[in-house]
Amino acid sequence: MEKVRFGIIGVGNMGSSHSKKLLNGKIENGVLTAICDLKPAKTDAILALPGAENVKAFTDYKEMFASGLCDAVIVAVPHYSHPGISIDALNAGLHVICEKPAGVYTKQVKEMNDVARKSDKLFTMMFNQRTNCVYRKMHEMIHNGELGEIKRINWIITSWYRSQSYYDSGDWRATWRGEGGGVLFNQCPHQLDLLQWVTGMMPARVHTFCHFGKWHDIEVEDDVTAYLEYKNGATGVFVTSTADAPGTNRFEILGNNGKLVCEADFEKGDKLTFYKLETPEREFNATHTGGFGEPKHEVIDVETDGKNPQHTGIMNNFANAILGLEPLFVDGTEGINGVELMDSMLLSTWLGKTVDLPIDDDQYLDELKKRIATGRRKEGCDVVLDTEGTYK
Ligand SMILES: NC(=O)c1ccc[n+]([C@@H]2O[C@H](COP(=O)([O-])OP(=O)(O)OC[C@H]3O[C@@H](n4cnc5c(N)ncnc54)[C@H](O)[C@@H]3O)[C@@H](O)[C@H]2O)c1
Repeated sequence: MEKVRFGIIGVGNMGSSHSKKLLNGKIENGVLTAICDLKPAKTDAILALPGAENVKAFTDYKEMFASGLCDAVIVAVPHYSHPGISIDALNAGLHVICEKPAGVYTKQVKEMNDVARKSDKLFTMMFNQRTNCVYRKMHEMIHNGELGEIKRINWIITSWYRSQSYYDSGDWRATWRGEGGGVLFNQCPHQLDLLQWVTGMMPARVHTFCHFGKWHDIEVEDDVTAYLEYKNGATGVFVTSTADAPGTNRFEILGNNGKLVCEADFEKGDKLTFYKLETPEREFNATHTGGFGEPKHEVIDVETDGKNPQHTGIMNNFANAILGLEPLFVDGTEGINGVELMDSMLLSTWLGKTVDLPIDDDQYLDELKKRIATGRRKEGCDVVLDTEGTYK
């Protein structure tokens, strides 16, 4: 195989963006050969683009899988269909990039992971934020022990502003039936993945306050405050909303050796600062005799490699990994962790109590089904929005 032949299922906002990257030669070892969407108007729009002369369009993804035109596929349809289509693709002998989130509920994601583990094809998640140099650097500093044992993890990520027109742009959006959740399920899968990937830790318990339709005419959550407790005693708070303007994106991790602060800012750029202690706090606590006083620290502007290739980085790595040129960057089965986090946050709110992780898969699904049964049906809205530059 000279170049990996890609098919894309779902060419709405995100799938059309992935298609353009392939058509514009941004993926060195990848080429777009097939696209699939239930709505022919969506595939027609891609076929009209320069370079798409040899691309074949389908309305049934199973026909696309059977066509022999693809080596790999990108699943870019609404969340509920991610596991089912990924499973079908792997079973059809295709390599898979699944869009985030891995699914809506843990039970379906576990089924997908079982198939992926048994398959000899590559399976990855579109966790494009893991390619951001600041998050890669945080991951590196924590995993090589520079920060020491983690004591506190706080992330306020409210820079996901969305107006009502966004929610009105698609009939699946912001409904229990179509999307399975709100800001946790659509905008925050990136941060929830990073929360566990950067720190290497999953909380043992969460207690969460989700507000449903607080700022928009929607039935799902658009304002969330979650309290997290970890097995090693660390605690944390995760705050998100789609109505804060201007919003904040501040990810702060306190360890025994100091504090890492990542402040992401569209205008000023992302900044990573390490407040490095002269003496680890636990050692200072045990040895300091002066009563008042605290360990001295220096403030370090952390240098990174400056690279942030986002979706293009994930797609290039995936194509190169298929060709055996480099290791796969994201193991797709790790997508379960973000889903576990978002499900546990909703479950805690629904039950009005602290929940332990891993959650009870069946209990979660039962609770979700109750919301779907009484939830909204939206029909007739379908607008393709330009996603360029919207990710943070
Ligand atoms: N990684 C990122 O940065 C990022 C950004 C935006 C969206 N996304 C993800 O991409 C996915 C799609 O979001 P979107 O904004 O592009 O939605 P969208 O509604 O614009 O597009 C989804 C498309 O999938 C099609 N579709 C649905 N079911 C299908 C099926 N069974 N077969 C073929 N086509 C089908 C729809 O007709 C639609 O055109 C979501 O899961 C979302 O979370 C990821």
